[in-house]
Amino acid sequence: MEVTESLPADVVIRWLRSGDEGVLATVAPDVFDDAVDPDLTREFLADPRHHIVVALVAQLVVGFASAMDYIHPDKPRQLFINEVGVSETWQNRGIGRRLVQEMIGLATNLGCTYAWIGTERHNLSARRCYAAAGGNELEDDVVIVEWKPRTFS
Ligand SMILES: CC(C)(COP(=O)(O)OP(=O)(O)OC[C@H]1O[C@@H](n2cnc3c(N)ncnc32)[C@H](O)[C@@H]1OP(=O)(O)O)[C@@H](O)C(=O)NCCC(=O)NCCS
Repeated sequence: MEVTESLPADVVIRWLRSGDEGVLATVAPDVFDDAVDPDLTREFLADPRHHIVVALVAQLVVGFASAMDYIHPDKPRQLFINEVGVSETWQNRGIGRRLVQEMIGLATNLGCTYAWIGTERHNLSARRCYAAAGGNELEDDVVIVEWKPRTFS
């Protein structure tokens, strides 16, 4: 998808690569679920199948979207958009939509035949954001099943 939406003038979109770990040292407190871990960040950025794009205001990360691309033995490359978060102060200004559009642009460039994300049915802001980014909602009632092989602290 062509990225055409305009953002507030002070918002800069930046893709992070290996060596950009320092960018995630200054993050608005409600952007990620947990504190950013430097070792996990280094591992994430070094992995070519893991992707992250951030929205910056000055040096502060106010939003991000992360994703991973993968293949199956019987299907070509797909993109799973893992998380999208925008600091509450900066919501409803088109940042989430733009970050998702960036991910769809990446999927196109990687040759992905499919890109997807999951969210709770009651998360109307996320659903509106993804629809605004051109996403097509499926009607399926999906059940999420989880395991916790190890605890994370
Ligand atoms: C979901 C989220 C990323 C959206 O980010 P955002 O920057 O506010 O989204 P945008 O400003 O790009 O909004 C895109 C569309 O969603 C709509 N929208 C955003 N927040 C909304 C809300 N609280 N209620 C209803 N609609 C909302 C906007 O009006 C816009 O619609 P439009 O294009 O039809 O006008 C953000 O609300 C968020 O971080 N939520 C908490 C974390 C979360 O739930 N992440 C998703 C997990 S899957």
